[in-house]
Amino acid sequence: MYRDHNCGELRLKDVNKEITLAGWVQKSRKLGGGITFVDLRDRYGITQLAFYKEENETLYEEANKLGREFVIQITGLVQERSSKNNNLPTGEIEILVKKLTILNKSELPPFTIEDDTDGGDDIRMKYRYLDLRRTPVRNNLELRHKIAFETRSYLDKLNFLEVETPILIGSTPEGARDFIVPSRMNPGEFYALPQSPQLFKQLLMVSGFDRYFQIVKCFRDEDLRADRQPEFTQIDCEMSFVNQEDVINTFEGLTKHLFKVIKGIDIPDFPRITYADAMKYYGSDKPDTRFEMKFVELKDLTTGKDFVVFDSSEYVGAICAKGAASYTRKQLDGLTDFVKRPQIGAKGLVYVRCEMDGTLKSSVDKFYNQEDLKKWAERCQAEPGDLILIICGETEKAQKQLCELRLEVGEQLGLRNKDVFNCLWVVDFPLLEKDEELDRYFAKHHPFTSPKEEDIALLDSNPGAVRANAYDMVINGVEVGGGSVRIYNSELQGKMFEVLGFTEEKAQAQFGFLLNAFKYGAPPHAGLAFGLDRLVSLFAGLDSIRDCIAFPKNNSGRDVMIDAPSVIDQEQLDELNIKVEIKD
Ligand code: AMO
Repeated sequence: MYRDHNCGELRLKDVNKEITLAGWVQKSRKLGGGITFVDLRDRYGITQLAFYKEENETLYEEANKLGREFVIQITGLVQERSSKNNNLPTGEIEILVKKLTILNKSELPPFTIEDDTDGGDDIRMKYRYLDLRRTPVRNNLELRHKIAFETRSYLDKLNFLEVETPILIGSTPEGARDFIVPSRMNPGEFYALPQSPQLFKQLLMVSGFDRYFQIVKCFRDEDLRADRQPEFTQIDCEMSFVNQEDVINTFEGLTKHLFKVIKGIDIPDFPRITYADAMKYYGSDKPDTRFEMKFVELKDLTTGKDFVVFDSSEYVGAICAKGAASYTRKQLDGLTDFVKRPQIGAKGLVYVRCEMDGTLKSSVDKFYNQEDLKKWAERCQAEPGDLILIICGETEKAQKQLCELRLEVGEQLGLRNKDVFNCLWVVDFPLLEKDEELDRYFAKHHPFTSPKEEDIALLDSNPGAVRANAYDMVINGVEVGGGSVRIYNSELQGKMFEVLGFTEEKAQAQFGFLLNAFKYGAPPHAGLAFGLDRLVSLFAGLDSIRDCIAFPKNNSGRDVMIDAPSVIDQEQLDELNIKVEIKD
């Protein structure tokens, strides 16, 4: 037997027991006077080992030769510590070691394997297997396990069946680029990795599975951000004989359950906001509703006072930052620089300070008198001590810029607390999105999403105005999940492809199997998919989903540990009938 206890479980009640432990040497401290302490670590915790020269000189000398990350086994006696460590669950005891076996040596690790490591991002990713020994990183993966486990058990109780769908498939149109896999047996032909199991889960509904889920890897070749990885995991779900309300209730239930059992938090019913209102009040379809600071439109109040910048703008919008009138000139300049950054692209920022004495001081005093400013302040419900910030321009762009500003100011004012969770549903998304350059419509969600019954008539006359039976779950400004009620009628699906500019042949070639399946009695169905990585990183308060993935890719889509992607042998290429020519 390698061990009879783990490194996290011994307490005062175990004093005088002889025990055996195995683990890694986290660090050792050679104190004066012939005493050496070694911190022994495993997945469950850290236990202090004590070696006294007086007790056993050979053992003491051996202990002094132990290097960081050596794998050792010890047998010894649990004893009460003279100086206790309250920060450690095992901090009241130590082990008086009687026997030491070195199970394996270790080279000096490239960074310290402690909670606060000295290793930078790159080196930790290169040696990810060492990084994963660190408690904070392992905790994230333990949390991930718990969320996945609870999800499975919750959905199982609701009769959902987990069904695996294939990874080598044809292209699925979710809007990103596909990862492609060449087929050796079919020269010149390629599989695509699924961007999601969308089509398969719909087919499972046609097959009568009624309730499906799958915790499944999805692959999208898109530019990476803190909340995006090229391979990520969805909790993918689909239900038959349901409407939007049923799906929303089921998965709101799951989310509340996860918050309750994992974080001990009771989340109230999720409010719902339409896409149109989300854009109008927050400039985003994933608003962070941990704080108010809703947009207020001022265009009508600002027009006709010779301030050309506002007069020539389609949109003039404000946010009111409570208690921020104390912002200094430097802080205001900082905010102006922030919105002028190329990534945000605003031309400038106008402010109105609501002084404590009731006067209003603005950066556009030349054009607007106190009366004018008072009207703005009233509409913004600004009180003395508040700061009004205004951005103008073309409506959609200005709203996006104001959204970035709102988030930044919310951050600066400490309103985006990671321990506060605000969940909501965004509903009534537009069905289609126009690509102005290509002058054609694309499906906002995917081509299988159904239009609202009352908007179907607009599909020909005004496709851009058609709303979809689509919904997103948003938590703290993160799109955690999204789904829709599907089209289950092959005629309507055909119509949708027509609006999207597919010829009948192309629709047949790409989705013929689905269109055919719909001819054999497809039930009404709807579903959604959660981003598991995003859910875990929210629960853990992480800045990037990378930190809850065991072996993630970096921002260039590389796994720096295994050094992938990489070139492959000519022999392998020949077998695949592939000739590589890199274009500049
Ligand atoms: P959608 O494309 O909205 O819907 O994806 C569902 C959820 O998956 C997560 N997600 C990602 N997470 C990490 N990295 C990425 N690159 C990434 N892309 C998406 C998000 C998102 O809300 N088939 C539909 C679902 C349906 O209609 O049922 C779909 O995939 O949290």
